[in-house]
Amino acid sequence: MTRIWLDELGRHVGEEVEVGGWVFNFRSSGKIHFIQLRDGTARVQAVCAEDNVSDDVFARCDGLALESSVRVVGAVREDARAPGGVELVVKDLEILSAALEFPIQKKEHGVDFLLDRRHLWLRSPRQEAVLKVRSAVERAIADFFDGRGFVRVDAPILTPTSPEGTTTLFQTDYFGEPAFLSQSGQLYMEAAAAAFGKVYCAGPTFRAEKSKTRRHVMEFWMIEPEVAFLDHEGNISLAEDLVSAIVSGVLARRRAELDVLERDVAALERVKPPFPRVTYDEAHKLLAAKGYDFPWGGDLGGDEQTALAEEYDTPFFVEKFPVSAKAFYMKRCEDDARLTYSIDVFAPEGYGEIVGGSCREEDLDKLIENVAAHKLPPEPLEWYLDLRRYGAVPMAGFGLGLGRTVMWICGLKHIREAIPFPRMLNRFYP
Ligand code: 4AD
Ligand code: MG
Repeated sequence: MTRIWLDELGRHVGEEVEVGGWVFNFRSSGKIHFIQLRDGTARVQAVCAEDNVSDDVFARCDGLALESSVRVVGAVREDARAPGGVELVVKDLEILSAALEFPIQKKEHGVDFLLDRRHLWLRSPRQEAVLKVRSAVERAIADFFDGRGFVRVDAPILTPTSPEGTTTLFQTDYFGEPAFLSQSGQLYMEAAAAAFGKVYCAGPTFRAEKSKTRRHVMEFWMIEPEVAFLDHEGNISLAEDLVSAIVSGVLARRRAELDVLERDVAALERVKPPFPRVTYDEAHKLLAAKGYDFPWGGDLGGDEQTALAEEYDTPFFVEKFPVSAKAFYMKRCEDDARLTYSIDVFAPEGYGEIVGGSCREEDLDKLIENVAAHKLPPEPLEWYLDLRRYGAVPMAGFGLGLGRTVMWICGLKHIREAIPFPRMLNRFYP
């Protein structure tokens, strides 16, 4: 008999099948044992009745320890009350591995207790739902770019450069030379866009951010499109189209998981282009009126982001940040050299920045000036300057933080649950 997955049981009503799985709940009336099984595709009840099985099998099923792994042969029976519409009538059950007492119980646990056991915590229904949504987000992203003719190009992880500033670098030794874990694949995507036109990368990036907020981790996945001949308006359209496609992809495929998470889907159904736009200047005035006194020229901090987000019930753009708040490669606005053609997308409901991007400075001399002004070592950027020596064109792109996006779509309080194995300040175990 070939083993099938639990989500396939509905197609085998009336048949005898073999399944494998883990026991996530057990109760017994004495004469009937109710074994709740999960295998990652579904959760199903297996019923083991004294009259139906050998004494041996009945005794084996009694008091099955939670998270024991089992192989079951049984008959598939329709049951309208069951979540998947079916249950399994046990004929035979083999214990593959009897589990020790499982440390994660139905009661409330402290978050450190759970994070120390992240490798086991993944099995709980909420974590399963979040990570299935994450997978759907990744699929929606791949479909979106495929559908638009983008080439996926993988950026390196070990790099000589620090595109996002030298204060958040993870340094390592590369056979006697300093190397840094990539903060962003962008510079490499610019090279790739000059080769392939429309490109994106989707890989891990690293920031040694000494901030302990609910939105920051040290290692996060970033999706970075880069497009030749794209301008500021085009960059805005691309970002709002991508974010909308991600949300509709999740709504189409992962409603059941959003239900488990008790997510307000009405808030997600509102996510459609165009998104509202506010300039940095306007945002600065708006925040001043709300009593936030942060200096013009600085980046928006967590509190400011949250206060601004109260104004919107959909994702929104803040555009044209000051030169002083942003990275060396950003192109200045033609009508105001204090500003850049930059964009951030902020998620509503106080989730903060999920996208950051810009048009790129294409003029070689200005770029060299910016490198000096940002006090970046010029040698590791020589290759990047070449892109301005050999056929520079207007170019734009952005980075979308995967963890932040999943956190918002799932309605999580903290980014740590949006990542399978989060790397946080003072934590990289397990
Ligand atoms: O705004 P950032 O720093 O932009 C860049 O790195 C550009 N080079 C991207 C580009 O234009 N290709 O980061 C982009 C996004 C943020 O909006 C946020 O969603 C996420 O990456 N991010 C983080 N997520 C979790 N933890 C952190 N420490 C993050 N830092 C940035
Ligand atoms: Mg940013």
